Amino acid sequence: MAGDSANKTGTDLKNDRYLRALMKQPVDVTPVWMMRQAGRYLPEYKQTRAVAGDFMALCKNTELATEVTLQPLRRFPLDAAILFSDILTIPDAMGLGLYFETGEGPKFKRPVQSRADVEKLGVPDPEHELQYVMNAVRSIRKALNGDVPLIGFSGSPWTLATYMVEGGSSKAFTKIKKMAFADPAALHTLLDKLADAVILYLNAQIAAGAQSVMVFDTWGGVLSPRDYKLFSLQYMHKIVDGLTRENEGRKVPVTLFTKNGGMWLESIAATGCDAVGLDWTIDIADARKRVGDKVALQGNMDPSMLYAQPARIQQEVSDILAGYGYGSGHVFNLGHGIHLDVPPENAGVFVEAVHHLSKPYHQK
Ligand code: CP3
Repeated sequence: MAGDSANKTGTDLKNDRYLRALMKQPVDVTPVWMMRQAGRYLPEYKQTRAVAGDFMALCKNTELATEVTLQPLRRFPLDAAILFSDILTIPDAMGLGLYFETGEGPKFKRPVQSRADVEKLGVPDPEHELQYVMNAVRSIRKALNGDVPLIGFSGSPWTLATYMVEGGSSKAFTKIKKMAFADPAALHTLLDKLADAVILYLNAQIAAGAQSVMVFDTWGGVLSPRDYKLFSLQYMHKIVDGLTRENEGRKVPVTLFTKNGGMWLESIAATGCDAVGLDWTIDIADARKRVGDKVALQGNMDPSMLYAQPARIQQEVSDILAGYGYGSGHVFNLGHGIHLDVPPENAGVFVEAVHHLSKPYHQK
């Protein structure tokens, strides 16, 4: 499989089954990676983060960001690496002052509170304010040495806006919804600026070496169907339209993931993305019936299943593989990020199970 894609552009990959599955091309086994695969469930991550100081210092240190990206790949036979960074780098580059309070998640020193705040925001230049991210992409690509593809990513405009307006994580989303319903023009201005920023940011990641990109819409699922289209999907559609779709002689597949967005699958697939990420609240068999050949699917095991005994994890993997059925077009993943208290061995059981149990679904 590696041989037939070898060429002179430097894009030959030893393992390209993740990219092939996103393009629905034949694979030997179902590819797998894990959302948040680099992180605190790994003792080696905690060690490197302690060396860096805090989380943002780790993201900004090219060498250490490269190191933590590779850590999960040394432990498990994963089929893709994901850039070590965060979705909140864009709002930080817009001047909001991102910081992390231990145990409380992300916060902004200067949240967006009014239309005037929205109007003051500029669109960051990725090779200037966000150059540390591009440096990490270039360094990780080099360190991967063609073993597996590198995934770049960004938050969706709506999800970024929730953090920027709420000032951090939220449960009820009252501040952003107040803006959405009481001053929609202000929110649309913000979302449009963010869409422009995300397009520049992802295209810069692609130019720096990201071989596929994913947009995380963690909070689109808190909206009504009409408001989801208006405030989230519309802007992801704009992003899909603005992205570089080919680089280094290869297609650059785009995955859109709206957590809790299973009921909107057809509309997400209609944006022209290559793949749709699924959380665990939808049956992947139904999802495949609904999207047909239009897009590939990524997902969708409940990350809490990794607390179970190996046999239970293997059973769940087997059921999800059977649900998707025969042929390519499935990238196995968790339906959301891996939990920080999961035993790393269980992640290993999961990854091995996907490769082992998926073989029969890919025989010619
Ligand atoms: O391995 C990977 O997946 C790559 C790195 C990655 C991180 N964040 C590192 C991180 C990715 C892809 C993200 C995406 C991200 N960040 C999302 C979208 C996906 C999702 O989980 O819904 C969101 C909403 C964020 C915002 C964010 N960053 C939150 C809410 C938190 C705090 C929660 C937590 O886990 O503590 C972060 C911090 C963060 N981003 C950590 C990591 C490894 C933990 C920071 C630490 O080391 O203390």
